[in-house]
Amino acid sequence: MNQELPGLQGNCGVHPAGNQGLAGGRPAEQEFQYFAPPPYPAVRVTACNRAYADAMLVNLGSCDSEMTAVSRYLYDDLILKEQWPRASECFRKISMVEMHHLHIFGELAYQLGADPRLWCAAGRRMNYWSPRCNPYPRDPWEILTVALAGEEQTIRQYRQQAGWIRDTCVVENLERIILDEECHVRIFQSLIQELEGSAADSGVNQRPQSRR
Ligand SMILES: [Fe+2]
Repeated sequence: MNQELPGLQGNCGVHPAGNQGLAGGRPAEQEFQYFAPPPYPAVRVTACNRAYADAMLVNLGSCDSEMTAVSRYLYDDLILKEQWPRASECFRKISMVEMHHLHIFGELAYQLGADPRLWCAAGRRMNYWSPRCNPYPRDPWEILTVALAGEEQTIRQYRQQAGWIRDTCVVENLERIILDEECHVRIFQSLIQELEGSAADSGVNQRPQSRR
């Protein structure tokens, strides 16, 4: 299934690029892997289940959803394109992985018996996803810290769901997607370190600010 993400590298983690070693006293730029090595499990369910379907809709169309991640990273890609092309590319490639997750959760929600719109249950009614879910920071530091917090929240959410859902097919998919989100945490942590390093090199004794 990993072949379905063309142009992206597996083998999750942060690796030195080539054999450049250290450059100018700072680590050489690292190349990132955007999704984990294990293949994705089959996207299937054991039986229809409304409670499980509602959980998948949360992952599809709530403010804490893959849809929010895809749209957030699209915006971050655009905002950073000129001032930090390397980070911009990271956001673009991670958004492609999140799009794959979005599709998986949509399929699971549908198979479990839900109408897979970009919405989720809120009491007795359904709330549609909104672009207002995103805070739209423009400062690189804020962009990365918001992205990192989002990934950490996502991992907590999927682990919590995997703890109570009894459909092993659904749980397998949640656990596989968690591995990708852990890759993204490491990437954002690495980019934050790069940003802190560049601020230290320039003698700026504060959090880096946007050039805009
Ligand atoms: Fe992610």
